[in-house]
Amino acid sequence: MDVMIVLAISLAIYLLLITSLRLMYPEMHIDWSRINLEEIDFPPDFSWGVATASHQIEGNNLNNWSEFEREQNKERSGAACDHWNLWKGDHQLLVELGVNSYRFSIEWSRIQPTQDSWDEDAIAVYSEMVDSLIDKGIEPVITLHHFSHPVWFEDLGGFYKRSNIEFFQKYCERIFPYFNGRVKKWCTINEPEVFSIMGYFMNMFPPGKRSVLKAIRVMKNIMLAHGQVYHALKKTDSQSYIGIAKNVTIFDPLRRWDLIHWITSIILNYIWNGAIISSLKRGRMYGTSMSITKNSADFIGLNYYTHVLTSPFLPQTTEIDLPSRKGQEITEFGYPMYAEGLERAVQMLSKLEIPIEITENGVADSTDKLRPIHLKRHLWVLSELLSKGFDIRSYFHWSLMDNFEWAEGYSLRFGLYEVDYDSQERTLRNSGRDYAEIIKKF
Ligand code: FCB
Repeated sequence: MDVMIVLAISLAIYLLLITSLRLMYPEMHIDWSRINLEEIDFPPDFSWGVATASHQIEGNNLNNWSEFEREQNKERSGAACDHWNLWKGDHQLLVELGVNSYRFSIEWSRIQPTQDSWDEDAIAVYSEMVDSLIDKGIEPVITLHHFSHPVWFEDLGGFYKRSNIEFFQKYCERIFPYFNGRVKKWCTINEPEVFSIMGYFMNMFPPGKRSVLKAIRVMKNIMLAHGQVYHALKKTDSQSYIGIAKNVTIFDPLRRWDLIHWITSIILNYIWNGAIISSLKRGRMYGTSMSITKNSADFIGLNYYTHVLTSPFLPQTTEIDLPSRKGQEITEFGYPMYAEGLERAVQMLSKLEIPIEITENGVADSTDKLRPIHLKRHLWVLSELLSKGFDIRSYFHWSLMDNFEWAEGYSLRFGLYEVDYDSQERTLRNSGRDYAEIIKKF
C-alpha cells in the first residue's frame, strides 16, 4: 500500500479515537459569571459539618508521622492546635458555626501506645468528646484511621504486611463498643489512595518509599483492612453506618488532542479512583480478587479538592504548581480551584449505588480571599446535584481551623477559623461567617 494511504488511514483512526474520547469524557467548565451562587437549596435533613484529623490538631502525638517528621527533618507537628487540651473550647467553635455534624479521628497511638497496652484514660477523653458533641446537638462522625498509627505498628511493617491487618482490626474492635450507640456514622480509613501513594510512591508521607509496586500492595492491603473491619463491626452492630473516605481526584489530559496525555489520564484515573471503586463494587482490584471488600460500605465518603491535568511529565512532589486552564484560580496548594469536578466526582462514585457523604472539601487560603467563593461554588454544585436526585447526605468542610497540613506543615491554612499558633487563639474568618449563614438558611 502506498505510504501516503497508510498515513492517511492512521491519521483518520487517530482523529476518530481522540474525537470519541473528547466526546465521551468532556472536561466540564461552568461559566461562573452567569451563575447566581445564592440560588441554592438543601433539604432540612441535610448534615452540615466540618472535619479534622487527630494528628493535625491534637498536638504532641507520638506516631508514624511524628517519627517521619523527625527522621526526614520536616516541620514538626509539635503542639499543633493543642486540641487535646483545648477541645472544649473547640467544640464551642462548632456551636458558633451552627454545624450539626462533626467528623474527627481517633488517634490509635493514644489508645494503644504499645502493642500490649491500652490507655483507658485516652479512650475516656474521646468518650467525653462524643458526649459533649451530642449534648450540643452535633452528630459525632468518627474516622478510625486518618493517616496516623502507632510507631510499633509501623515498625512491624504497617499496612505493607498483610498479616498486620489483624492489629488494626483488634484496635477497631476494642474501641467500637465504647462509642457504639452514641456514634452511628464511622469512616474506617481516610483516603487509602493518598495514604499508599504519598507514603510508598511519592516519598511525601511515612514511611517515605518510592516504589509503585509497594504503593499498589499497600493500597490492596488497606482496602482489605477496610473490608475486614467493616464486616467485624457490622457483626457487632448491624445498625451502625460504616463507610470509607475516598479522595477523588479528577484526571484530565493536559492537551485534549494528545493521545499520550489521554493515556496517562486514563491510567492515573484507574490507579487512583477506578481500582478502589472496583474493590468496593466487584471485590476486584489490580487483577486480584478480594471478595471481602465487595459491598463493604454503607456509604462512600467523598473528599474532593481538584483536578490534575496529566501528561507523561508528572511531578513527583506536591511542592510545585500543577498545570491549570486559562482563567482558573490557583490555590495555595498549587492546584486549581475546580468546583465542576465535584459533580464529576459524585457521578463517578454514584456507580457504587450507595449514599454519598462529602467527608471533605476545602481550600488552602491564608488570606481567605478565595475561600468564600470556593465554598459557595462547591455548595452550588452540590445543590444542583441534589436537585438532579443524587443521594448526597452531608457536607463536611475541611477544616474547622488551620492545622498541621502533613508534608506541607503549617504553611497551608485550611481553616474556617484562623489559628495563631503562638497564643492558640482561634479567629473566625469571613468564610466561616458565610458558612454559618448558609447553614442557618436550611
Ligand atoms: C486530605 C486529607 C486531610 C487534609 C486535606 C487538605 O487529603 O484527608 O487530612 O490534609 O487533604
